[in-house]
Amino acid sequence: MVDPDPDPDEPLGTALGWVGEGHRMGFVRTSSMSLRLRDSAELLATLAGGADVGDDEAVDLLAHALQCAAILEAVAPGDRELQVAGLVHDIGTILAPNRPEAHARVGATAVRGLLGPRAAHLVRLHDQAKRYLVTTDPGYRHQLSARSLETLRLQGGLLDPDERAALDADPDLGAGLTLRRADDDAKRPGTVVPDLGHWQGVLDQLARSAA
Ligand SMILES: [Fe+2]
Repeated sequence: MVDPDPDPDEPLGTALGWVGEGHRMGFVRTSSMSLRLRDSAELLATLAGGADVGDDEAVDLLAHALQCAAILEAVAPGDRELQVAGLVHDIGTILAPNRPEAHARVGATAVRGLLGPRAAHLVRLHDQAKRYLVTTDPGYRHQLSARSLETLRLQGGLLDPDERAALDADPDLGAGLTLRRADDDAKRPGTVVPDLGHWQGVLDQLARSAA
């Protein structure tokens, strides 16, 4: 069954806590998982930490996030929430590495309070969107990276009919699929895209709207 959006109070197991200041914060493990980003500075610091996380892909997670957001800014210029969801979609992997089956849920929980329910929902949707595309598009599987194929199984593999029906009824499925295709395309070493500073104003704006 496709998980619903995260319960903000749901304990998720082992978590990471904050150590340090600025854009190069470190993490330590803590015993509770109420991991929620408090402001855009903390979110940007977390994304910057993605420069040290590879997740077995061709680019690090910061480059991947920036490429994904840039693609979405180009293909969906009017949808700032979708662009920001693309920027933060793998933040769960930075916060809790090596948990591909949980990263979308961890990420959605972390950003929901700061960026609002729709951006969080799009983050939550992005691994289910991969399952949807593998199920409905025979050629899609061949577009996935080796790592993405590996995690597909952990994330549930093909959808069953009930899961597919639930996603078909989701009004944000189209946006979720757009994010997913940008995600798959955002793994190109050496691509020059706007840096984190480009997204500061948009993040602040979304955070104000969600407050
Ligand atoms: Fe991704």
